[in-house]
Amino acid sequence: DTEGDLLPRPPVVTIMGHVDHGKTSLLDALRATDVVAGEAGGITQHIGAYQVTMPSGHKITFLDTPGHAAFTEMRARGANVTDIVVLVVAANDSIMPQTIEAINHAKAAGVPIIVAINKIDLPDANPNKVRQDLLQHEIVLEEMGGDTMAVELSAKKKINLDKLEETILLQAEMLNLRANPNRRANGTVVEAKLEQGRGNVATVLVENGTLRVGDIFVAGAESGRVRALLDDRGNSVKQALPGQPVEVLGLQGAPEAGDKINVVEDDARAREIAAYRARK
Ligand code: GTP
Ligand code: NA
Ligand code: MG
Repeated sequence: DTEGDLLPRPPVVTIMGHVDHGKTSLLDALRATDVVAGEAGGITQHIGAYQVTMPSGHKITFLDTPGHAAFTEMRARGANVTDIVVLVVAANDSIMPQTIEAINHAKAAGVPIIVAINKIDLPDANPNKVRQDLLQHEIVLEEMGGDTMAVELSAKKKINLDKLEETILLQAEMLNLRANPNRRANGTVVEAKLEQGRGNVATVLVENGTLRVGDIFVAGAESGRVRALLDDRGNSVKQALPGQPVEVLGLQGAPEAGDKINVVEDDARAREIAAYRARK
């Protein structure tokens, strides 16, 4: 890359864990910590991904589309957009079958795990049992001499959410996540659908470069020109930076989750690449 320097980019986080251990509750609680959330009383999320801005100004991107199935499906298609897996384990329930599945997915993908020991507000919470049980799956927490970080928290009572965010940023720092905003954008489609009145709409995670209104692109075997970009609140924006999830309007057809999106120099090049990809 000769067009500019690599700058730190926000980490992309997927929350996984056993049914009812609190994944959705945690996502909702984390979303509510955003310091630029605007009016009180509710943030409406428009897409299956959102970015939280912390008081320090640091940002974290959370994907809430990839459950286990989507995570493996995207990975099977060569799309590994997740930098960090937050593994939610209910402290009253400890390790359950889908916890083990999530551990195996994260390990196979080579993605570091942060353990969120949830529901510590419950009287029968036993975080130490969680720590012990994790050992059987070769997850050794830092406090036990290993290298996996863990945070005890309550999504419901909003305890230690800041600690989890700090831990995510610490892990991100160790991963040295960088991108160059000063180049043509590329990214991955995390979901796509045909919507009445809006045409084909894709949620895209920008991985490198800056995506702008007017850009000509190829998404999978579909080409297009960015007609509009909407952020995770549904606000129209002019551009999206690395690590940012954004809704893209202006696609000719519908790409699939996991498809790569690349901005190109002109229509001819877009059609050429789209045709090549369509043959494969
Ligand atoms: P699935 O999407 O169905 O797999 O569940 P989930 O992992 O998203 O769990 P969800 O957030 O729906 O929470 C399941 C139940 O646990 C709900 O009744 C929540 O209110 C409750 N819950 C979540 N977090 C906490 C917590 O920190 N403390 C307590 N006491 N309950 C919690
Ligand atoms: Na549930
Ligand atoms: Mg849920």
